[in-house]
Amino acid sequence: MKVEKIPVMQTQSNLQNYDEAYANFDWAEVEKEFSWYETGKVNMAYEAIDRHLLTPRKDKIALQFINDTREESYSYAQLSELSNKFGNVLRKLGIVKGDRVFVFMPRTPELYVSVLGTLKVGAIVGPLFEAFMEAAVRDRLEDSEAVAIVTTAALLPRVPVNELPALKHVIVFGSEEELAEGLISYEKEMAEASSDLEIQWVDREDGLILHYTSGSTGKPKGVLHVHNAMIQHLQTGKWILDFQEDDIFWCTADPGWVTGTSYGIFSPWLNGVTMVVRGGRFSPENWYSTIEKYKVTVWYSAPTSFRMLMGAGDEVVKQFDLSSLRHVLSVGEPLNPEVVYWGLRTLNQRIHDNWWMTETGGQLISNYRCMEIKPGSMGKPFPGIHATIIDDQGNELPPNRMGNLAIRTGWPAMMRKIWNNPAKYQEYFNFPGWYVSGDSAYRDEEGYFWFQGRIDDVINTSGERVGPFEVESKLVEHPAVAEAGVIGKPDPVRGEIVKAFISLRAGYEPSDELMDEIRKFVREGLAAHAAPREIEFRDKLPKTRSGKIMRRVLKAWELGLPTGDLSTLED
Ligand code: WT7
Repeated sequence: MKVEKIPVMQTQSNLQNYDEAYANFDWAEVEKEFSWYETGKVNMAYEAIDRHLLTPRKDKIALQFINDTREESYSYAQLSELSNKFGNVLRKLGIVKGDRVFVFMPRTPELYVSVLGTLKVGAIVGPLFEAFMEAAVRDRLEDSEAVAIVTTAALLPRVPVNELPALKHVIVFGSEEELAEGLISYEKEMAEASSDLEIQWVDREDGLILHYTSGSTGKPKGVLHVHNAMIQHLQTGKWILDFQEDDIFWCTADPGWVTGTSYGIFSPWLNGVTMVVRGGRFSPENWYSTIEKYKVTVWYSAPTSFRMLMGAGDEVVKQFDLSSLRHVLSVGEPLNPEVVYWGLRTLNQRIHDNWWMTETGGQLISNYRCMEIKPGSMGKPFPGIHATIIDDQGNELPPNRMGNLAIRTGWPAMMRKIWNNPAKYQEYFNFPGWYVSGDSAYRDEEGYFWFQGRIDDVINTSGERVGPFEVESKLVEHPAVAEAGVIGKPDPVRGEIVKAFISLRAGYEPSDELMDEIRKFVREGLAAHAAPREIEFRDKLPKTRSGKIMRRVLKAWELGLPTGDLSTLED
């Protein structure tokens, strides 16, 4: 049965009355929660970890880790000590405030220790998703002139150590053999490092983390966040994730993406809860058993994962005891009402959708525990956030009119620059006073926001942003490919899949083998999630007279829709 609104299920929550909070909220009040409010000494890693050592949280488990081969837990005190050691490892190498240090590792405790240690010496962390191949790693290290990278023996072959002039230090974890000359052993350095570290205090506006994300043109852009973001990470953790002292929190995102850092590192630890990290591959059994085994209470995941679990059938869910769950949330792509109903039926939980972006650094629009949910809606703006819909001239639109989703500038976790690219940064702020998201949406008369789509050609596959331009650029590097146009094709599980239209060079004929080969070429050259799941060969691709491939026309072909205005088409 479809209901229009899903009523509030539990009355217990940190946020009790949304309207009242929205009317009275002041970010300045949140500042009082941090130790720097008294001491003037700022550092995210200190606030997230070390500060708790002065409280009963000292010996509480901060990190509960599991993958196929390891199961370990670390208290706040242990994470403090290990990250101090890692900070000393970096300091010994001469790494100082503002340096870029990349972390290219699968989810293991060492990844978290490396991130925290990097922050403790004031360096900027660049997290890289473990599925990145050499070209993706090179682009990011090159653009940011990273001085160091922490990686694993298995991933090391994908780091082009000799092609990056700025890169001075390569720290390798998990090598079974002697490391080659010039490489540094994580284990060896950690064993020798002191656990006493003088933390590098920074300014609230100093760089914290650099997340590369895709746009519709050009290479991925380096979105820089600053330590000040902690204000938002703390407060959204309280009111959206609803953290309580005894919560066991599981964020399923990898720290290679912003959800995996803002809400997979900072927000839970600033709030002093226990966080579960699961490495290894997804399977419904692994996932459900993670919830059962660790008695996860708050679970933050993404629509694609929920759809995959839904696809595995209700029978699987019933084999596990998921009764520990008290709060479930979703982000990254549109959350279909069907999935919300599945959550009610199988988990006996409302799934709370929320909206934000790499660039926004923290959650901006959300469904709250104390608020009715309209399935399909992203919810309402967080207190302190002014969200609206504007037209293409920058005028605010009344309810129920579709337009550009925009946010009044100046929230605590907002990006502070696009690395090396002030012009790209400026593009988000073309209308004075507004950040324009690139999403289209409308707001209904009750103030709920409804996502409609991306305005640009950016593809969202399983919640991961893929820039069509990057994939096209890689495709044309293949000897058989003359031209390529890449679009997102709607998919029931992944939201969208990457689909490539390709015209071949003379002398090549379409075949299944060639298709596989091209797919593999992108997978190995760029990243698995960027490889086109579907390839269609065409003699010719639609182009503008200036030679730009018209993705809009490809999309219309794909969806069987009218192609619209073709006046700029080449022929
Ligand atoms: C884009 C941002 C924020 C962390 C994960 C994604 C889409 C995000 C929702 C949602 C519909 C959503 C938007 C946005 N998106 N949340 N709740 N409903 N779409 O971060 O990789 O920077 O992607 O993801 O299109 O612009 P990201």
